[in-house]
Amino acid sequence: MTDARKPWVKPSIVMHRSGMVNKFGSVQRSQWQDQLAGVSVAALVEEHGSPLFVISEQKLRDNARHLLHAFATRYPSVRYAWSYKTNYLGAVCRALHQEGAWAEVVSGFEYEKARSLGVPGNEIVFNGPHKTRSSLERAIAEGARIQVDHLDELYLIESIARETGRRVPIGIRLNYETGYTENWSRFGFNVESGQAMDAAWRIANSDSLELKWLHSHIGTFVLDHRAYGAAARIVAGFMNDVEQKTGCEIDAIDIGGGFASHNALQGIYLPPEQVVPSLDQYAEEVCTPLLEATYERVARGRPLPTLILETGRAVVDDAESLITTVVANKKMPDGRRCVIVDAGVNVLFTAFWYNHQITPTRDLTGAPEETVIYGPLCMNIDVIRKSILLPPVRTGDTLIVSPVGAYNNTQWLQFIEYRPRVVLVHGEAEVSVVRERETLATVTELEQLPPHLAPTDHDGQSPDPSR
Ligand SMILES: Cc1ncc(COP(=O)(O)O)c(C=O)c1O
Repeated sequence: MTDARKPWVKPSIVMHRSGMVNKFGSVQRSQWQDQLAGVSVAALVEEHGSPLFVISEQKLRDNARHLLHAFATRYPSVRYAWSYKTNYLGAVCRALHQEGAWAEVVSGFEYEKARSLGVPGNEIVFNGPHKTRSSLERAIAEGARIQVDHLDELYLIESIARETGRRVPIGIRLNYETGYTENWSRFGFNVESGQAMDAAWRIANSDSLELKWLHSHIGTFVLDHRAYGAAARIVAGFMNDVEQKTGCEIDAIDIGGGFASHNALQGIYLPPEQVVPSLDQYAEEVCTPLLEATYERVARGRPLPTLILETGRAVVDDAESLITTVVANKKMPDGRRCVIVDAGVNVLFTAFWYNHQITPTRDLTGAPEETVIYGPLCMNIDVIRKSILLPPVRTGDTLIVSPVGAYNNTQWLQFIEYRPRVVLVHGEAEVSVVRERETLATVTELEQLPPHLAPTDHDGQSPDPSR
């Protein structure tokens, strides 16, 4: 006969807040789901361990197509350049390149990675405030689309161009006040102060450089879509101005990234469904002023400038989830319940600014209680959710954390724990490992021990107590 007795738990009084209403309606009954992209969570954990990142290739492709559709139906010449820093797992980049995306990179490393994934130089947009001489030399030789951040970079590119005897087409990054966002003035050249026009003059007076495109990236997770209307008006206005004054011919406007994903930013009261603009709203804001500003140019027989998008999080975030397992339940001295899970902020960097959705994988019974979810790290900062209403969970229960596709697989760090596997679900619910879990060998691969510190045969033996 099996022992059906429950373990004894010290009684405590807890205020139950289930069913509590707020001004937007009642709290929803706890949702649960036991599969991801059509594959059972239990089977995924059994095969690949926990924690585990799971990417849906179909969702990723659908998101990219949706983005392009929103813009291409409003503006005839659109190019999408995948923002590598958002998620540069090879499988993610390759799926997007197969969808026709170029690469948008911000370092020599990202440039090399894009080339290693088969992206030709002339389909790489090279951004960022630090581009080394060697990475610029390669990018220039391969015809990459370099967007200049500051004057020192401009001079460096000019000197490389002179050495090679080539006339190098370049872009400049602009920063300006949209009236809806804080100006990220540390990147690029300022429009209002005249700095951007000065840079354009400097290029116009160079015999080895040519200003061919303009870049701007106004911020990230920009919730007010009107900011893009202002941005497009300012950049297109600058384009007309700079062409008229310096005689250059701009053939592309790169509006950067920054569209919000369906994640819940901490401190924002309303849920993502209510605050995140649709891709169509962003597209409408960008394309309308761009078309208006180019009427005259088209009338004069010149082609429309290509609109380049560098959307990151809005394409990849909800294509990836993280499965984590409950390792312990605890009571805090103030009566709050806390749950410890096996995925921490070392793999979920975005927990610092999002309240990720946490979904149980079975129907949890019992009254929901305010719960803190801690990660496994022996560090006070390791908090996955500061407060969530959750019914009781047991050790071994799995939870799905989502969306996690943006800025986690690039900003994660090997700290205390090994980083877990990442799998891709594709085709008819097929699962492929796209990044292996770390091992002691992979983590220590780059370390070297000087001979006098190398372990010897005597190491590991108990010290002689007489000495
Ligand atoms: C220059 C540039 N382009 C594109 C992106 C992608 O931004 P997001 O993920 O907000 O779309 C970034 C990210 O900060 C960026 O710096």
